[in-house]
Amino acid sequence: MPLNRRKFILNHAALATALLPLGATVRAKAVYASGLSEVFKDDFFLGTAISNKTLSGSDPAMFKLIAQEFNTITAENAMKWQSIHPDHERWDWRLADRFVKFGHEANMLMIGHTLIWHKQTPPTVFFKSRKKQDALISRDLLRKRLRLHVQTVIDRYKRQIALWDVVNEAVTDKGRWRESHWYDIMGEEFLEQAFRAAREADPSAHLMYNDFNMEKRQKQRFVIHILNTLRKRGVTVDGVGLQCHVSLAADAPSIDALEAAIINFAKAGLRVHITELDVDVLPNAWKYKGLHIDDLPIDSDPLDPYKNGLPARIEQQLAERYQALFELFIKHRDKIARVSLWGTSDDESWKNDRPVIGRTNHPLLFDTQKRSKKAYDAIYKLKDKRAP
Ligand code: G3I
Repeated sequence: MPLNRRKFILNHAALATALLPLGATVRAKAVYASGLSEVFKDDFFLGTAISNKTLSGSDPAMFKLIAQEFNTITAENAMKWQSIHPDHERWDWRLADRFVKFGHEANMLMIGHTLIWHKQTPPTVFFKSRKKQDALISRDLLRKRLRLHVQTVIDRYKRQIALWDVVNEAVTDKGRWRESHWYDIMGEEFLEQAFRAAREADPSAHLMYNDFNMEKRQKQRFVIHILNTLRKRGVTVDGVGLQCHVSLAADAPSIDALEAAIINFAKAGLRVHITELDVDVLPNAWKYKGLHIDDLPIDSDPLDPYKNGLPARIEQQLAERYQALFELFIKHRDKIARVSLWGTSDDESWKNDRPVIGRTNHPLLFDTQKRSKKAYDAIYKLKDKRAP
């Protein structure tokens, strides 16, 4: 599906009036008169993820901020299998409907995230018995369940959502199929079945494969290989999502590695989407994955150094990292359809709880008070650099 900008003309003022209770204000200190998405309006769509907290209505100011700054939205959790289809006969559309309502009223480009993933999928999808999770169901039954899920979700939203993350994270960094219940039961066929089901449900949809660490060469090659194989079998994948959960360090990953990934995927005939951008400013703590910061067997302070705010020096580094990333995205605007942040303000980022729970990260463009950060300014100012 071509991404037709005219279909998504924004009307932020109307949205703010329609959605927000009287008196709700954004406490942003330095939000510019026209939002960040305006800066990139001739380059790519600019998006963010909406949390369940926001969709549940407990943070109305967040809707206003998102409508002001972005023109694209992804549901951070609300459209995943576990949320939307918690049991075989049970569908829970409440938060997903709220997402679509907001997107429709704000004239946002909406991304359906995500149809098939090994995470956030109820175990009952894969096992014969609810109690005994040892016997997996048959390939035929799982194929039926996959088709029913994919087609029911797309059918419900296809008038509003035209872009779907159909399959998420099916490949390891070493360039092999990821071991998952999907793969254990159906083998590689699950990828093809997911894209076939999605294509049947909406022939004109823009269908994507989404994964992290896509700059790693083995992973990149394997993803291109499996998507090419699908194409030869008559199943078209339109786009590829580079999640881009990056770190502050300039080599994690390097701009060069990301650039090569963008170029290689584009050469393979795929539209590139930057789907979940954020910049981790904390020290690597994967060794303690899943533990709470208060329960570490070591002094936790060095692993959680910015509890009381980001020092000016790190704030500046964060701005420079974001600037370098956006300069790269602009350079390849002919290949990139969209850049989405994975959240709007630091307090709601998944990075506060991963890999270690309860740390204070600062990975996004707005701080915990919804004030724009230096990183925001650095990106916004690219507008001046690009003026004729
Ligand atoms: O809502 C419950 C809350 O009621 C409960 O008290 C709390 C206790 O653990 O959990 C809350 O749910 C958490 C949910 O986020 C909402 O905050 C889940 O435990 C937690 O697992 C879930 O994490 C999400 C993660 O996907 C799951 O793998 C993150 O929010 C979400 O940002 C993250 O997003 C993924 C993308 O979909 C795919 N790419 C990677 C990306 C980051 O992991």
